[in-house]
Amino acid sequence: MVKVMFVCLGNICRSPMAEAVFRKMVSDAGLSGEISVDSCGTDGWHIGEPPHRGTRDMLTEHGINYDGIYGSALKKEHLDEVDYIIAMDEENLSRILAFKKANSHAEARLLSHYAQGRWTVVPDPWYTGNFTLAYDLISEGCDGLLEHIVKKHRFVTKS
Ligand code: 4NP
Repeated sequence: MVKVMFVCLGNICRSPMAEAVFRKMVSDAGLSGEISVDSCGTDGWHIGEPPHRGTRDMLTEHGINYDGIYGSALKKEHLDEVDYIIAMDEENLSRILAFKKANSHAEARLLSHYAQGRWTVVPDPWYTGNFTLAYDLISEGCDGLLEHIVKKHRFVTKS
């Protein structure tokens, strides 16, 4: 199983949105048995909480299910357990890299890396209120991430 973890600050706006979006893409590609998807926050303020109302509204608008997604916090052990650990912004990535051992095999990158650098970070809608922009960037980044994983692991997708 290839394990993917999305990371933001609070784990109630951006990374749970990415988890739900990517989970649907993986399912639509027929790869739910090959790729597992999770998310967490670098801070633990919202542990156990459902996604923010703005995130839930965007997901509902796009017909994406978010059942079972609740806030959790990043732990050092995650770095040993996952294959891809994907940050929404530079601050999240530097917290991840501070936890990452030199011998860790996990690929730690910004989500924008998989959008060929067309943008840099997913601006935090907790502060901007712009959940539409977050959704658009997350969808584009997740598309590129899935393509990358499929190629790298030579998965065959459902057409
Ligand atoms: P997120 O947004 O990192 O995209 O989940 C935030 C959520 C909560 C807070 C900050 C950012 N907060 O300060 O509680």
